[in-house]
Amino acid sequence: MDRKIMFEDKPLVTEEEIKEALNFCVGQVESNLPQFTHQFQKAYSENLFYQPIDNNYWTTGFWTGEIWLSYEYAKESLPGSADKLREAGEIQIESFLDRIDRKVEVDHHDMGFLYSPSCVAGYKLIGSQKGKEAAIKAADQLISRFHPVGEFIQAWGPMDAPENYRLIIDCLLNLPLLYWASEETGDNKYREIAEKHIHTTIKNVIREDYSTWHTFFFNMETGEPDHGATCQGYRDGSAWARGQAWGIYGCALAYKYTKRKEYISIFRNVSQYFLEHLPKDMVPFWDLEFTDGDEQPRDSSAASIAACGMLEMAKTLEGEEAALYTDYAKKLIKSLYDNYAVKDPKVSNGLVLHSTYSNHSPYNTCDHKGVDECNSWGDYFYMEALTRLNKDWELYW
Ligand code: GLY
Repeated sequence: MDRKIMFEDKPLVTEEEIKEALNFCVGQVESNLPQFTHQFQKAYSENLFYQPIDNNYWTTGFWTGEIWLSYEYAKESLPGSADKLREAGEIQIESFLDRIDRKVEVDHHDMGFLYSPSCVAGYKLIGSQKGKEAAIKAADQLISRFHPVGEFIQAWGPMDAPENYRLIIDCLLNLPLLYWASEETGDNKYREIAEKHIHTTIKNVIREDYSTWHTFFFNMETGEPDHGATCQGYRDGSAWARGQAWGIYGCALAYKYTKRKEYISIFRNVSQYFLEHLPKDMVPFWDLEFTDGDEQPRDSSAASIAACGMLEMAKTLEGEEAALYTDYAKKLIKSLYDNYAVKDPKVSNGLVLHSTYSNHSPYNTCDHKGVDECNSWGDYFYMEALTRLNKDWELYW
């Protein structure tokens, strides 16, 4: 694929802006603690305000992740706030341990989204033993969804139905939990399953032009690849913006954990497809089919996820290429900071506006919800990108 350099004239976010943005985010997280310590933020805001929910949805780990990112920042820059953030993080870890023990809404693949930014983070940052116990139990839950026939982890639904016999691109972010579990337990079974799933995913969800399928089905009897389909994208053959962003970050993590060199070149091409389909301000519409002039909602969360993936891959690239992806990430975050980030707590209790969870179209299969709102992962990955730009960050993933 010919990879021309894009967005050469766009400004980079500055160090001062990164600090300003982090100060605001941490202040916002702190002000949210009274409402969201014993409960969690809903996946998406309504009229720009999150409501509290119990720990029973696939997204609750992102809010806890924001608490841990805030704790890390506060420890270095706002010491007066660190203790209460840590305390809130620990209370949330208790809830995650209880959830996995009671198996509350864990019959799906999102154990990594739930347990990496909450419990693995708490274990890495403060040595939380409850966090470690909960995350290993979550890894066990995740590998229980592995199909040896087809060699993949099934995303959703009961395991014995052909209509559920599929993986989804998002799952690449769930797999670091398995590498971590192997590291902690000394048992390679988690890593071996993760590796098989990564290879099956990358072989099947990346199309010839480096756009991506959201979901991919396999034949239940033979394990042979069957067909790709969207759930949250506009139509089957289009590229759902967040799916493409999960692909960017997913390839960077796939390389980090497998060290397979071909994943670097796939990362480059999947990133290029994303960049070439962005509108002028670099923040994608919810599907890359749409661009400037289309009356469609944005998905600002996809910009943050892509920025995190580029910053991760830049760590292993050399010289000019590392600088290129770092600059793309700084430009994405600059655009978010200037025009999408919440600047006034009276406007929203979230961090980033104009995100889209699921936009129903005549050709997709998802419910219509969380459109042009803040969402929990959009806020989390914006903070993660800022943290990565602020220091040499040890991943929760
Ligand atoms: N992983 C589901 C989503 O990105 O909406």
